[in-house]
Amino acid sequence: MALESFPESTLPSPTPDAAATSVRRPPPVAGAAFGEDWWQRGVVYQVYPRSFADSTGDGVGDLPGLIEHLDHLNDGTSRSLGVDAIWLSPIYPSPGLDVGYDVSDHAAIDPLFGTLDDFDRLIAEAHRRGIRVILDLVMNHTSSAHPWFGESRSNRSGPRADWYIWRDPPPGFRGRRPRPNNWVSFFGGPAWTWDPVRGQFYLHTFLPEQPDLNWRNPEVREAMLGIVRGWLERGVDGFRLDVFNAFFKHPELRSNPRRVLGRRAYDRQRHSYDKDQPEMHDFLTEFRSVVDAGGGRMTVGELFATEARRAGSYAADRHLVFDFHLIEQSWRADSFAAATAEREAIFGRDRWPTVVLSNHDQSRHASRLSGGRRDDAVVKAAAVLLLTLRGTPFLYYGEEIGLRDVPIPRAEIVDPPARRGGAISRRISPWWNRDQARAPMPWGEGANGGFSPHRPWLRMAPDASIRNVAAQSVDPASALSLYRRLIWLRREHPALQTGGYRQIAASKDVFGYLRLGREETLLVAVNFADAAGWVRLDGHPRAGGWSPLVGTHAPIGPGRGAGERVALRPNEAIVFAAT
Ligand code: GLC
Repeated sequence: MALESFPESTLPSPTPDAAATSVRRPPPVAGAAFGEDWWQRGVVYQVYPRSFADSTGDGVGDLPGLIEHLDHLNDGTSRSLGVDAIWLSPIYPSPGLDVGYDVSDHAAIDPLFGTLDDFDRLIAEAHRRGIRVILDLVMNHTSSAHPWFGESRSNRSGPRADWYIWRDPPPGFRGRRPRPNNWVSFFGGPAWTWDPVRGQFYLHTFLPEQPDLNWRNPEVREAMLGIVRGWLERGVDGFRLDVFNAFFKHPELRSNPRRVLGRRAYDRQRHSYDKDQPEMHDFLTEFRSVVDAGGGRMTVGELFATEARRAGSYAADRHLVFDFHLIEQSWRADSFAAATAEREAIFGRDRWPTVVLSNHDQSRHASRLSGGRRDDAVVKAAAVLLLTLRGTPFLYYGEEIGLRDVPIPRAEIVDPPARRGGAISRRISPWWNRDQARAPMPWGEGANGGFSPHRPWLRMAPDASIRNVAAQSVDPASALSLYRRLIWLRREHPALQTGGYRQIAASKDVFGYLRLGREETLLVAVNFADAAGWVRLDGHPRAGGWSPLVGTHAPIGPGRGAGERVALRPNEAIVFAAT
């Protein structure tokens, strides 16, 4: 099957010893050039490196393990998933208090994952397969173990004194020191911690061990852009920006207005002053100009705790934005249709949306949407949505085999906010243990589902011996086989990549839409119900008939006439092409 964005003839041919060679400056992916916008047409796969594949036998995934499994992601044929890029959750040195999102050196690799040579080899091996590599940049905060913070706290007039957000308590207090304002941490408790070394409070949107950088200091911005340049020179193809809309705070650090409703303290404030400040737009332009110094690079920002409507404004200037609107929907056709209509209105034709159903911070959608059922009917119908709605799809490792959330006994909890939250917070917000969505990838037979000979850092899914990559690879009816078919279908049909969107059906149970390309029109019909449904193959005046391309259920059935009513089996989804 031909690769749409990387014709096979342009890919360097595999060399048996390439894996053993460390390449310092690998060439970019063949055919990549900015303006071709591969990041609009392609599919991105999120790797959570700790849980992907362990090559050293210490129970933790690593870069050589990931390299060994790149063929699963794209070997140039439809026997693999066929993704265009991988996004790696942080691989930098870190004390691990927010499982890697507390970075102590942004320019190195944590020995847990390997070495810079391993990283260079990963880039070379990924590029050889037409896979781009996207790094996660955590720039809102550092770890408190970062040398910058060490310098900043030790000297109020030293060169890095103003790199973090330090404040005295309000003057004239008696008794307990009041905090500079009412801001609270997203992970619970106040957002200010007293530092006895410097004798001031410092700000942290997340853990006290994750102090926020002062983005109003031009030296901080320059230091971060230097790090960005360094990784680009090393061959990376783009970045995911962690909580990017929180970088800038209001210059006067005013207290946030209160809200009456909200289960957590964080939700009982309007975040008018601790994020979403106008300066971010200028920084995004500057950041893109650095990134665009080379061709074909992608950037995507994680919209943190903000309504989807803001995503549109941040998506300007070719920068993608994750909004989590679809993640918030329940499994109903009218909910998904309404959320899609809203996203279409927010992004419009000039901005490009992303499509995300799962990530490392959320309950896996196989659990969230399936309502406890163990079969993969909902997983498959959701895959059709993910890979055919307008926008760049982001897959989260394991979703291609329908991996579920894995319940973690309290004694084994790793996720810091869940550990710190205690029993009360767990009762208020039972989901808040992200470990559940971070289970090691079950590859096949062998100890711990082939992930590691050692006890993994988090427990494996209880059904790993049957729900794994090897078993699903040989089963044409599996979730994995469907993901492969859908991604390769997407590669062959420009209408699915960049075509327009038009809704044609949105009842409680059935959601139908067209994807309108320049030369073709596709129709997607998804039955969300556990009962039979139907859709009328309408909405396109020039279609003479409709021919089915891919479906969740076998057999898909014959071609249908224009305007015909098509019966859909429970949770069935079908993609048709106009003839
Ligand atoms: C982002 C990450 C999350 C992390 C937080 C703080 O939301 O996705 O995992 O805990 O930022 O860095």
